[in-house]
Amino acid sequence: MEDSDDLGELAEGVATGSLLEARQVETADRDLEQATVGGPTHPLRRVRSLALGGTLRGAAVRLRVREGAPRLPAAIDHTLLLNELAQEYVARSPRSAALNERATRSLVDGGSHALRLIEPFPPRIASAKGAYVRDEDGHEILDFWQGHYANLLGHNPEVVTTALARAFEAGVGLQTGLTDRLEVETAELLCERVGAERARFTTSGTLATMYAILLARASTGRSLVMKVGGGWHGAQPWGLVGVGFGSQDAPFQGADSEGLSAAVRGEVVVTPFNDPDRLSDEFRRVGDRVACFIVEPFVGSGAGMPASPEFLHAARELCDRHGALLIFDEVISGFRFRAGDAGALFGIRPDLACFAKVIGGGMPVAAVAGRADVLELAGRTKGRRVRFSGGTYSAHPASLLAAKTMMSHLVAHEGEIYPRLSSLGAKVRAAVEGAFAAEGILARCTGRGNGVLPDSPVNMLVFPRRASSPLRGPQDTRNPAVCDVALGEEVVQLALLLEDVHVVHGLGTVTAAHTEADVERLGEACCRVARRFRYTLNKRRV
Ligand SMILES: Cc1ncc(COP(=O)(O)O)c(C=O)c1O
Repeated sequence: MEDSDDLGELAEGVATGSLLEARQVETADRDLEQATVGGPTHPLRRVRSLALGGTLRGAAVRLRVREGAPRLPAAIDHTLLLNELAQEYVARSPRSAALNERATRSLVDGGSHALRLIEPFPPRIASAKGAYVRDEDGHEILDFWQGHYANLLGHNPEVVTTALARAFEAGVGLQTGLTDRLEVETAELLCERVGAERARFTTSGTLATMYAILLARASTGRSLVMKVGGGWHGAQPWGLVGVGFGSQDAPFQGADSEGLSAAVRGEVVVTPFNDPDRLSDEFRRVGDRVACFIVEPFVGSGAGMPASPEFLHAARELCDRHGALLIFDEVISGFRFRAGDAGALFGIRPDLACFAKVIGGGMPVAAVAGRADVLELAGRTKGRRVRFSGGTYSAHPASLLAAKTMMSHLVAHEGEIYPRLSSLGAKVRAAVEGAFAAEGILARCTGRGNGVLPDSPVNMLVFPRRASSPLRGPQDTRNPAVCDVALGEEVVQLALLLEDVHVVHGLGTVTAAHTEADVERLGEACCRVARRFRYTLNKRRV
């Protein structure tokens, strides 16, 4: 082993009962000479192709090394376990397998969103109601992904489906290309609940963050966009920089897509989440060129944890001092902790805020809301300087009906829904962490409240390499030296699917449709998965 620090960490892993086992470490270190996880040689792609060829064989598939592949410190090779899980999965899902084969002939990788395209193939969903989805093979799957966290009331809640059914029954709901009362009423409701002077609707969170950034750049006449390393704001040009962890020396510094211009890459400044000192340093360095700092009050896909009040207050103060705009990306946090924005709980008003997911009630609705003088840059009084005005399907009638119905329902039932979601989220954390701890495996759920944001219904499950590892944000949860990222992402997902439980990023969200019995079921499933992990490790030790 080349790096003696790795050994220290790994030994501590054994001592603290985490997944790091001395024998496995030796094997893993040797395997790393031959293996890299992911990429075109992903083992589960091989399992899938064996299944589809009709000859599912049990042989473990060795990964081949890519030239110059980085060595991850203390990385564990989960190939054998993944293969074992995938073979069981393939055997129990023949219809999804067949559909997947068809899908890959017309769709890239068989679908349209990478997070849905689980390896070796995703369960193809036939129906969805409440906390559950049913797949083509008849599995009733307890779902914690819930429409990318959009379904705060669970799948297809009656309050929304009834409103839509009535509209369609009355012969309305499809796009007219004109405007109506519904658009006015939905905008009034949104503005009132999020303390905004103006709003404009669009169809996705991605477009909302892109327009917000354009508005900020036009308003300030500056070009730099500051964002948090690992923060996801959708696949728009500035959002595609600093998402993937990259290297230990320079985390979150790369572009996450080819095809971006060098100019865009150079316009993004990345700073760590929940680190007010580094934020202050960055503003000192380039503050006079920063158009905006875009940040989530609850960082979603990168870590699933709240911003500290110190961090967000520093952000507000630094933006003001340096003449930059503060944009809250509330695509995940909006209407998640209360029937309105999360920024209000911090007592902070951003210049602009972006909303999507929950506000759409399961339909594609997003909005930029905030200061009138900034949003008016898209309006005729300011010469329509920012082209935030397109979108054939923006303010779509059926979508806005779902949005207005959903937001009104959340406002009317705020006192019941949110405290219950928070308490269920805490129960999920206790059940999941407890299940892994019982098998001596160190696991942490990230969505704990911080005194400003309550305990979150959204949780990410991570496997820290040390009990003492700080988990401050994506800089820790996505760092393979701090957490076993592959275990939390891929292995847990497949293992839980075999238990008819669907999670993404290790876990996901509870909704108003989840019950205590569902949380118990999740806990029991995690117990079996944890036992399986422990058993696999012990088997390897023999
Ligand atoms: C915080 C955040 N911002 C923006 C987006 C992009 O939203 P959409 O997927 O609706 O384009 C997402 C999507 O997951 C998100 O989590």
